[in-house]
Amino acid sequence: MKRIAILGATGSIGTSTLDLVEAAPEQFEVAAVTAASNVAELAGIARRTRARLAVIADESRLEMLREALSGTNIQAAAGESALAEAAVSADLVIAAIVGTAGLAPVMAAVRAGRTIGLANKEALVSAGALMIEEAQRTGATLLPIDSEHNAIFQCLAGQDCDKVARLILTASGGPFRAFTLDEMAGVTPAEAVAHPNWSMGAKISVDSATMMNKGLELIEAHHLFGLPESRIDIIVHRQSVIHSLVEYADGSMLAQLGSPDMRVPIGHILAWPRRMATQARRLDLIEVARLDFEAPDPVRFPALRLAREALKRGGAAPLTLNAANEIAVEAFRASQISFPAIAALVEAMLDAMDRPLPSSIPDVLALDSEVRAIARERLAKLSA
Ligand SMILES: NC(=O)c1ccc[n+]([C@@H]2O[C@H](COP(=O)([O-])OP(=O)(O)OC[C@H]3O[C@@H](n4cnc5c(N)ncnc54)[C@H](OP(=O)(O)O)[C@@H]3O)[C@@H](O)[C@H]2O)c1
Repeated sequence: MKRIAILGATGSIGTSTLDLVEAAPEQFEVAAVTAASNVAELAGIARRTRARLAVIADESRLEMLREALSGTNIQAAAGESALAEAAVSADLVIAAIVGTAGLAPVMAAVRAGRTIGLANKEALVSAGALMIEEAQRTGATLLPIDSEHNAIFQCLAGQDCDKVARLILTASGGPFRAFTLDEMAGVTPAEAVAHPNWSMGAKISVDSATMMNKGLELIEAHHLFGLPESRIDIIVHRQSVIHSLVEYADGSMLAQLGSPDMRVPIGHILAWPRRMATQARRLDLIEVARLDFEAPDPVRFPALRLAREALKRGGAAPLTLNAANEIAVEAFRASQISFPAIAALVEAMLDAMDRPLPSSIPDVLALDSEVRAIARERLAKLSA
């Protein structure tokens, strides 16, 4: 029996995780589940999984959660410290909150030396070396759920890691892979959220459309696998069949393939170091028939260049990239700015801010808030 906590249980990754966990009740015990504001869904999940603790981030909804859980033994809690409590309540923590909002709970799990299935890439991008150093100090284990990093993790297993030549992250190219710059200028939030291959939450879907998702993944790969930016390539592979590759010094390339279903990497992490069955569709290679690859276009997808620059520059540049992107994506989803303005705002914020990475998580969070406030001011001026 593995005791697990699911942070962000009501989201896309949370739901896929629950799908696997509920299909294998003899293997998993759910210690805690969390959500931001969706009380009804969270209470339903907590009741179904017989979780011991249900946490709602929005403290004003605690009473609603208590009512929704009345007649059960499930403890209801709310707010930051309760999220941290949920994060340390299990042996394996699935970190599936979206955005930097997940950083404090992930760090609580890292500090407690837990095993963390990391989907919440923004947390690692923002805290960077601080999180990795803390994990080394406490013995916490970071296991990648992001399909690309999970693919690399699988391709590294049992290999001579000193002989890795480069990592190759694959990217679907998103819904606007073949769009011109003019066409991109007019796309709507609904079009950006409709990913051709993957079913995901709204924020990561927009990130896939700008390819900022791949930029964040580049930074994530650097921290998880310790390779410099110059040895991490990105290629567009529109079928999303190969989830990433590792090239070794002898010229061998290892790839992990599977249908585009997050239950495959999540199942890998839930069962790690063993394997478990999942209901994900089997890949039919005859049906797939061909695999296409192309270089990403840095002109139409400037987010890739910005992420590389942020990683090369170091300090708090990745934090700035991520925080500005979160604000820009929010504004785009609210139809306040155009699609190309997302990368433009991120670039302007990177140009405007040059700070070292703070040495503590409270300072990282304070800087994150500062970047967001400045980004919001810039947006307000643009629309004034
Ligand atoms: N979806 C994918 O296929 C996929 C693949 C790879 C990586 N990821 C990464 O996994 C993470 C989650 O993505 P997702 O697509 O599952 O997102 P999602 O569907 O939007 O779900 C987000 C989850 O986080 C909770 N949440 C949102 N804001 C919060 C806050 N301020 N405090 C506490 N909880 C909060 C939400 O609760 P409510 O429901 O109450 O709002 C929900 O449970 C992201 O970092 C994403 O980049 C996702």
